[in-house]
Amino acid sequence: MSFRSAMCRNETCTVIQINGARHGRSVSDVLSRILVRSATREDIPALVRISNTSVAEDEDVGFGTPRSESLFSDARWLSAVWEEPNRVRGEELFVAVLDDEIAGFVTTEDRGAEMELINIDVARELQGRGIGTHLVRFVEERARRLGKRAVTLGTSRNAAGTPWKSFSWWQSRGYTVTGEEENEWTQRIGPGVREIRMRKDL
Ligand SMILES: CC(C)(COP(=O)(O)OP(=O)(O)OC[C@H]1O[C@@H](n2cnc3c(N)ncnc32)[C@H](O)[C@@H]1OP(=O)(O)O)[C@@H](O)C(=O)NCCC(=O)NCCS
Repeated sequence: MSFRSAMCRNETCTVIQINGARHGRSVSDVLSRILVRSATREDIPALVRISNTSVAEDEDVGFGTPRSESLFSDARWLSAVWEEPNRVRGEELFVAVLDDEIAGFVTTEDRGAEMELINIDVARELQGRGIGTHLVRFVEERARRLGKRAVTLGTSRNAAGTPWKSFSWWQSRGYTVTGEEENEWTQRIGPGVREIRMRKDL
């Protein structure tokens, strides 16, 4: 496969083309039409729609922040805490754009020597086409340029001991487990829930 990647001047967007494909529905075709850029206030309705529909209703019960408590579940809440240009409560937001439509987003937090990937969501109908991987690579490339040692993240294990369905996806993207813990976030989800901490050195 031949890759062509281009960074935007503000270092917050990339375009990757693979084989110059423009038609069809293959992963490489989707990737050839994706741009990652900083989110803007105008993206809020799309961010909320994707956040509310990226997993089936109730699928994440016992695994994730209850929807009723998520800032990303309501456009008014998200709008109220939005800080220009692309920040929400210390997190930076980036969107993957496919043919002018928001296809997914990722949020990150600067933690000194490391970059924490807080949240990643791809529109349900577009999952499995490489968009999530592309967003993760974007975060890793940006963290590397900023001199970070690693990208870190947390996923969850429910009270029955089952990891959230993306756990093996993170492993297949090169992330390894560094520990498990109960904390403020897991306590909000429910008793017995644990956060699986993961890391990829850059
Ligand atoms: C998790 C998520 C971000 C992944 O994004 P995506 O665009 O669907 O994933 P991609 O298309 O980039 O990944 C496809 C690859 O993962 C592999 N894959 C898919 N499911 C997998 C699994 N359960 N375990 C391991 N690998 C898996 C595919 O085989 C493919 O591999 P390849 O790159 O070698 O061909 C997306 O599915 C999503 O938004 N899920 C709901 C929200 C969520 O769970 N977020 C993470 C919270 S921790």
